[in-house]
Amino acid sequence: MAVAHPGEKLYRQYCAVCHGDTAKGDGPSAAAFATKPADLTNGTLMNPLPNEFLVNVVRHGGPAEGLSPGMPPFDRYLGGQQIRTLVAYLRSLAQPAYRPGSATTVVTVRGAPRQPVFFSHLIHAGSFRIPCQYCHADARRSEYAGLPSLERCLGCHKIIGATDNPEIGKIHQYRQRAEPIPWVRVFKLPEYVHFPHKPHVRAGVECQRCHGAVERMRVVGVDDGWSLSNDLVNLLGLRPRHRPLTMGWCIECHRTENRTRQTQAPLECVICHH
Ligand code: HEC
Ligand code: HEC
Ligand code: HEC
Ligand code: HEC
Ligand code: HEC
Ligand code: HEC
Repeated sequence: MAVAHPGEKLYRQYCAVCHGDTAKGDGPSAAAFATKPADLTNGTLMNPLPNEFLVNVVRHGGPAEGLSPGMPPFDRYLGGQQIRTLVAYLRSLAQPAYRPGSATTVVTVRGAPRQPVFFSHLIHAGSFRIPCQYCHADARRSEYAGLPSLERCLGCHKIIGATDNPEIGKIHQYRQRAEPIPWVRVFKLPEYVHFPHKPHVRAGVECQRCHGAVERMRVVGVDDGWSLSNDLVNLLGLRPRHRPLTMGWCIECHRTENRTRQTQAPLECVICHH
C-alpha cells in the first residue's frame, strides 16, 4: 500500500459524506441531491479542469463556477493551503491518471461581458468535450458560426441540473416565456467588413486561432482593445503582433497561410470590403 496522501484525512472529514469514501460520488448523503455529487475520480472529466477551477469550487461552492449549490462553500472551514492539498489529493485519484505537466489554466479575458446565463465553455467544451460545432453548427456551412437554440440546450438540460441549479433554471424560464436567451455578442466586426466562417473552417483554420482557448474560458471574451504592453513594445521599435479583429490581423494571417500552406486567402480590398 502507498503512504496515505496528506489530503486524505481532510477528504474523509469534509467531503466523503457526499462524494463517498472512494470519491465516486456515492456518499451516504448523495441520494438526497438532484444533481449528484461529482465522481471525483473520473479523470476524463476532471483532468481538463484547471486547479484554479477546482480550488474555486471548493472554496466558494458550486455556484462560483455555475454549478449546483448542492456543492457547499468551504472557505469558513478550510484554509487556502488545505484546499490546495485536497485538490492535489483529488488529482491523485484520477482514472485515467492526471499528468501534472498537462495542467491547464483558466483563461480570463479582461472585459468579457456578463451573460444572462452563466454558461461555461470550460465545463461544456473543456471538461465534457462537447465539440464546438455541435453547438456552433453553422460554422462549416455559412458565413455565421451561429449560437445553439434553447431546444439544443434543453436536449441535455431537460434533466441535467433542471431542478436544483438556478443557472439552468433560467433556461427553463426563457423557454416558458418563449423568449430566446439574450446572449451578449462578443466578437464583432464593423458592418463594412465581410467575414465568412465557412472558408476558414474548410481550410482547417482552428476556431482557437481566432477566438483563443475558448475551452478554458468561464466567460468568453475578446482581447482586442488598446494595450499598454503593445504600445510600449511599439515605442521600443519592435513590431508587436496585431490585435485580433483588426485589418492587420486578417492580412498577417492571410499572408502567412498563403506562403506556408499555399492557400488562396484574399489580400484584395474588395473581397473583405463589399
Ligand atoms: C453536501 C454535499 C457535498 C459535500 C460535503 C461536498 N460536495 Fe463536492 N459536490 C457536491 C455536489 C452535489 C456536486 C455537483 C455539483 C454540480 O455538478 O452541479 C459537487 C461537485 C464538486 C466538484 C466539481 C466537480 C466537477 O466535475 O466540476 C468538486 C471539485 C468537489 N465537489 C469537491 C469537493 C470537495 C473537495 C469536498 C470536501 C471539501 C466536497 N466537494 C464536499 C456535493 C458535496
Ligand atoms: C450535450 C449536452 C449539453 C448541452 C447541449 C448543453 N449542456 Fe449545459 N451542461 C451539460 C453538462 C453535462 C453539465 C454539467 C452538469 C453538472 O455537473 O452540474 C452542464 C452544465 C451547465 C450549466 C452549469 C455549469 C455552467 O456551465 O455554468 C449551465 C448554466 C448550462 N449547462 C447551460 C447550458 C446552456 C445555456 C446550453 C445551451 C446553450 C447548454 N448548457 C447545453 C451538458 C450540456
Ligand atoms: C454546449 C454548447 C456549446 C459548445 C460545445 C461550445 N459553445 Fe461556444 N457558445 C455557446 C453559447 C451558448 C455561447 C453564447 C454565450 C457566451 O458567449 O458564452 C457561445 C459563445 C461562443 C463565442 C462568442 C460568440 C460571440 O458572441 O462573439 C465563441 C467565439 C465560441 N462560443 C466559440 C466556441 C468554441 C471555439 C468552442 C469549442 C472549443 C465552443 N464555442 C463550444 C455554446 C457552446
Ligand atoms: C479566421 C478566424 C476565425 C475562425 C477560424 C473562426 N472564427 Fe468565429 N469569428 C471570427 C470573427 C472575425 C467573428 C466576428 C464576425 C463578424 O462580426 O462579422 C467571429 C464570430 C463568431 C461567433 C459569433 C457570431 C456568429 O458567427 O455566429 C461565433 C459563435 C464564432 N465566431 C464561433 C466560431 C467557432 C465555433 C469556430 C470554429 C468552428 C470559429 N468561430 C472559427 C473569426 C473566426
Ligand atoms: C488565422 C488565420 C486567418 C485569419 C486571422 C483570418 N483569415 Fe481569412 N482566410 C484564412 C484562410 C486559410 C483562408 C482560406 C484560403 C483558401 O481557401 O485557400 C481565408 C479566406 C478568407 C476569405 C475568402 C473567402 C472565399 O470565399 O474564398 C475571406 C473573405 C477572408 N478570409 C476574410 C477574413 C477577414 C475579414 C479576416 C479578419 C477579420 C480574416 N479573414 C482573418 C486565414 C485567416
Ligand atoms: C483580409 C480582409 C481585409 C482586406 C484584404 C482589407 N481589409 Fe480593410 N479592414 C478589414 C477589417 C477587419 C477592418 C476593420 C478592423 C479595423 O479597423 O482594423 C478593416 C478596416 C478598413 C478601413 C477602416 C479603418 C479605420 O480605421 O476605420 C479602411 C479604410 C480599410 N479597411 C481599407 C482597406 C483597403 C484600401 C484595402 C486594400 C488595400 C483593405 N482594406 C483590405 C479587413 C480587410
